[in-house]
Amino acid sequence: MSRERKILELKEKTEQARLGGGPEAIEKQHQKGKLTARERINLLLDPYSFEEIDMFRVSNADAFGLQDKQIYGDGIITGYGTIHGRLVYVYSFDFTVYGGSLSKVVAEKIVKIQAMAAKVGAPIIGINDSGGARIQEGVDSLAGYTSIFLNNVLYSGVIPQISAVVGPAAGGAVYSPALTDFIFMVRNTSFMFLTGPKIVKAVTHEDVSSDELGGADVHSTKSGISHFTYDSEKELFEGIRKLVCFLPQNNLEEPPSVECHDPVDRLDAELNYIVPDEPHKPYDMKAILLKILDNGDFFEIQEYFAPNIIIGFGYLNGHVIGLVANQPKYLAGVIDGNASIKAARFVRFCDAFNIPIVTFEDVPGFMPGTQQEFTGIIRHGAKMLYAYAEATVPKITVITRKAYGGAFCVMNSKHLRGDVLYAWPSAEIAVMGPEGASEIIFAKEIKAAEDPEAKLQEKISEYREKFANPYVAASKGFVDEVIEPKLTRYKLIKAIEMLHNKRDENPPKKHGNIPL
Ligand code: HXC
Repeated sequence: MSRERKILELKEKTEQARLGGGPEAIEKQHQKGKLTARERINLLLDPYSFEEIDMFRVSNADAFGLQDKQIYGDGIITGYGTIHGRLVYVYSFDFTVYGGSLSKVVAEKIVKIQAMAAKVGAPIIGINDSGGARIQEGVDSLAGYTSIFLNNVLYSGVIPQISAVVGPAAGGAVYSPALTDFIFMVRNTSFMFLTGPKIVKAVTHEDVSSDELGGADVHSTKSGISHFTYDSEKELFEGIRKLVCFLPQNNLEEPPSVECHDPVDRLDAELNYIVPDEPHKPYDMKAILLKILDNGDFFEIQEYFAPNIIIGFGYLNGHVIGLVANQPKYLAGVIDGNASIKAARFVRFCDAFNIPIVTFEDVPGFMPGTQQEFTGIIRHGAKMLYAYAEATVPKITVITRKAYGGAFCVMNSKHLRGDVLYAWPSAEIAVMGPEGASEIIFAKEIKAAEDPEAKLQEKISEYREKFANPYVAASKGFVDEVIEPKLTRYKLIKAIEMLHNKRDENPPKKHGNIPL
């Protein structure tokens, strides 16, 4: 064969590979409102940055006619490219080939790219649109899944791992995303479930649609499995590009700083008035974060799950920080099981990837009641306690109002190795709220009083005056400084920069035993 012919052959094969399951299957994919695997990669990566690996791999499985329908790539596209000029690895399931099902070859291609990402130390992004294990390949598919899961676990905390679920993720296809750090889903076309509606009907007799069982809204509000929900794939891939900006390439690097044009000493006088005088009146903690962060830019994570706690990324003088904040607007900012789990996982992510944590605290305590006790608030609350305690990154707290009881201890107190703890003058730091405390410690006095209600109110005021302030804690060094709210941005930047070279470590061990 001539040299020209050989080059022509390469071009023809490449063209064929790029068509995946063929024009008809691509058309079907578009009709379902979904993009193709290659279109998705193009949206995710910088233009022309994608380099493909293993384009010509084919399956040599021969059961159920598979040998007659060999397709280049075998249903997965793998490779690397850049996002805002930074290296990332990517794999994208091609639903036009056997419904994006996972064959032995598909698994080997993913495992290879995972290992490369870990060796080089760069984030990996999986784009999932798959019918699960390739049924015709039997246990080879199961073995393949398991190898992927193993790598997900081994590289957890080594390189950031991100999953887009932009189609079905059924059966085995759910567990790899579940093991990664962040899951992105899109409304109407993403579904994640272990067993689909038909099996659910057969086993539990429930009538449920795919969307009701495992759609994007279900996983962003009820199960908490997904972190980001979008209306279109285009927005979803923009979201991943944004997230990657906040992340270091791996656990040995720091997150990338950016240039900051927002003045360090920008004071916002409105902050002095944002916490209401009435102790039970709600306010929006997010409004505080927006006033303090560079350019009022906050990248929120899991916005719709456990909204009584807020998590996300932002910048302070161009430095990436992870934020955890109670939200008095929902359930008075109380900590329940879901809020604990949400915050704990985020704190551990930040700690694994060298991202300083800033905590804003206004919390009346843990959620009481049988529902919470029976579903394990003790175990879940312990997760959050554990996460803050083991974290060695810079940890700063700002108490805006309530910091009562166990919740005070848990939310990055000094005794959990919190580095800097600020309190606003509106802070109330005590073992419990004035109402509950007065009813217990003044019970006899109140009972004996002519007007018990008036006595109770008098005692509540007395308690509030004595303990519901930041100065008792400050007098003991549990609070480093009581600050005027409008200075918060300036103070936080000073503290973050002061802590830049912080070194702290935990005792040597194989690993801890977080209460799961
Ligand atoms: C092989 C598959 C497949 C699979 C789909 N296809 N899933 N081929 N193995 N798992 C093929 C279909 O036969 C079809 O081929 C093409 O992909 C498109 O599928 P459709 O059904 O036409 O598409 P759609 O209507 O969009 O439905 C998508 C779907 C459905 C919801 C994913 O296909 C489905 O329910 N698939 C099975 C899901 C499942 O039960 N997976 C679990 C596998 S067991 P043609 O040639 O007709 O175009 C498992 C256990 C692993 O994963 C556990 C590890 C821990």
